[in-house]
Amino acid sequence: VEERKTRALLDRMTLEEKIGQMNQYIAPIYAQSLDSPDLAGKVDTLLAQGLVGSFLFVTDAGEANALQEKAARARLGIPLIFGIDAVHGLAPVRGATIFPTPIGMAATFDVDLVERSGEVTAHEMRVTGMHWAFSPVLDLARDPRWGRTAETFGEDPFVVASLGSALVRGLQGPDQAHLRVLACLKHFLGPGLPLGGRNMGPIDVSERALRTTFLPPFQAGVDAGALSVMAAYNDVNGVPSHVSEELLTNVLRREWGFRGFVVSDWEGIEMLHTTHHVAESQKDAIRQAVLAGVDMHMHGEGFSKPLVELVREGAVGAWRIDEAAGRILRVKRALGLFEHRYVDAARAASVLASPGHRKVALEAARKSIVLLRNEQDLLPLRKNLKKILVTGPNADNTALLGDWTAPQPAENVITVLEGIRAAVSPATVVHFVDPGRVFEETNETIQRTAEEARDADVAIVVLGENETRYDDRGALDRRRRERTGGEGADRADLTLVGRQMDLVRAIVETGTPTVVVLVNGRPLAIPWIAANVPAVLEAFEPGLVGGQAVAEVLFGDVSPSGRLPISIPRSVGQLPVHYDHPRSAESPYVDESFEPLYGFGHGLSFTRFVYADLRVPERTRRGEDVLISVVVRNAGARAADEVVLLFVRDVVASVTRPVRALRGFQRVHLAPGERRVVQFRIPFASLAVLDRQRERVVEPGTFEVSIGGLRGSWIALRK
Ligand code: IFM
Repeated sequence: VEERKTRALLDRMTLEEKIGQMNQYIAPIYAQSLDSPDLAGKVDTLLAQGLVGSFLFVTDAGEANALQEKAARARLGIPLIFGIDAVHGLAPVRGATIFPTPIGMAATFDVDLVERSGEVTAHEMRVTGMHWAFSPVLDLARDPRWGRTAETFGEDPFVVASLGSALVRGLQGPDQAHLRVLACLKHFLGPGLPLGGRNMGPIDVSERALRTTFLPPFQAGVDAGALSVMAAYNDVNGVPSHVSEELLTNVLRREWGFRGFVVSDWEGIEMLHTTHHVAESQKDAIRQAVLAGVDMHMHGEGFSKPLVELVREGAVGAWRIDEAAGRILRVKRALGLFEHRYVDAARAASVLASPGHRKVALEAARKSIVLLRNEQDLLPLRKNLKKILVTGPNADNTALLGDWTAPQPAENVITVLEGIRAAVSPATVVHFVDPGRVFEETNETIQRTAEEARDADVAIVVLGENETRYDDRGALDRRRRERTGGEGADRADLTLVGRQMDLVRAIVETGTPTVVVLVNGRPLAIPWIAANVPAVLEAFEPGLVGGQAVAEVLFGDVSPSGRLPISIPRSVGQLPVHYDHPRSAESPYVDESFEPLYGFGHGLSFTRFVYADLRVPERTRRGEDVLISVVVRNAGARAADEVVLLFVRDVVASVTRPVRALRGFQRVHLAPGERRVVQFRIPFASLAVLDRQRERVVEPGTFEVSIGGLRGSWIALRK
């Protein structure tokens, strides 16, 4: 029935109206902040004519309803779909729940939690009138100089695929015909390993690497039911993704059976002409992109008219327009927009950042924090210390909210300082010294801050990236000036920016026990801190209630359980550094080891877990899943979570294989003394290689498994 309705609607539509569905504009209110106030008038005319299909960055229910109303008055009254970068909760909306950025979500290694975060986000989106999350980001973070590393689930394809699919399920819900909201797999395909770590840079990778490393997360996202995909700005092996018929049509649709629609990235089609120079004009760029498989244009004028001409000239078949518009209309139907396009603006307030939603965000923040180092068990700290010095640029600001975040009401956010103040006993003096701005600190302010450490029992120094102090006024400008991470904030260096190192050195030199808390979205090369500061917490960007979670870990209410989803290099010169390299990549530099400072999967706990009794079958037959189990025991005195990571090595293969590759992970909670048998089922197909003939096969032979320091192996038989 639904399909018949879509076809009937298409039959009634003019060419212009169909192309109108393929058109996305930025929201008029947002356009004002970008200095395009005249857009609103133009958009009104287009809406009246039924020539807009979608908007991005509508951020409140009032505007959502007003735009829907205008669209409803057009000849066919087709509802609009609103997209937004809800990458870690509905962060672009004031008052919403904000989760840790995806790099922190990945550190939780908790599939169920990521799925629930998607459900919370979907709920908050729907009550505010939004339907389409430009999320999950499935790019593999293989070069942390890239400013968008925080938006990824890290370096490992298995983690990215597992958590990415969980987020798709959480956002969209279980039924593709009745979507909670629409998910969008991005960026297909490019970032994660751009040349020089620079945003939009080209990637040049072998077909084997594409097929075994970069594409599988996207295939998993399609298998999980995602119904939209965003093309990447980048070019892959010389072909910009926006014109890659190979990727957008052959791989995505013919091989994987994707049934949704493809949206361009913001002006990604224009860049085919202006940046990539593979199109001689804007019109030619549109022709190539639409023929390759792009169904919707983000954003603005200059798309519809040339496309109408291209169809009239016969350069783009009318069937292709029917196909693209049909795909978009089907998704609108699955979202229920033809029946319910308006929202009750009054409801949003009771849903956004509701106690239940904040609880999920707090759980995520707690599980995302990684304890990198803890010499002589400096942590957890006692709550009744006499004096604690808290300082550092990210101690009391909103850097912990991450990118794509709108200014938030101060009462919604818990900064690290606020979390610490709430955690300690009333008699403890929490002395906060604001060290000024990282780029502006003088020797004098650094020394003054260090002096304050002398009589403190402990100094907590909160460092990192994106020192932000924005408030409601002029938030964007100030934020941009101080951004060192996020989209468009790539770095050539991975040390701490500004004078943060001088600050921490001066404090450590006082002899006061020092804890460094890092609030940042990408790995930072901090060898001096790793060698000289006794306790180091990587908090990533822990979100709205992140400060509470950090304090709970510092004072032992929660045992840290996050694990690194990305390697932390010793220096930028080591890049690329990721754990699943072939053995040949292990020769040291003359001036540096090849090992990262902290490797993928690293993360300490306040308790001690003991692994025993690893069971692996002796032999498995073709097609047979491999069942593996291990016993994990909490041998310490505190209840805690443990993330159990299972790695597999293909001992001899026809092509080189990684020294180990993650093939399973589970998070378990164990009381003191408790033991648990943790079982894994490894699908046979997940052991496959792309052999010399480029066939995907599981080659017979020995496979080695390692879990928590234990090793075992089995033989995969030919039959
Ligand atoms: O979704 C984003 C994309 O990741 C980068 N360019 C802009 C898009 C819309 O905001």
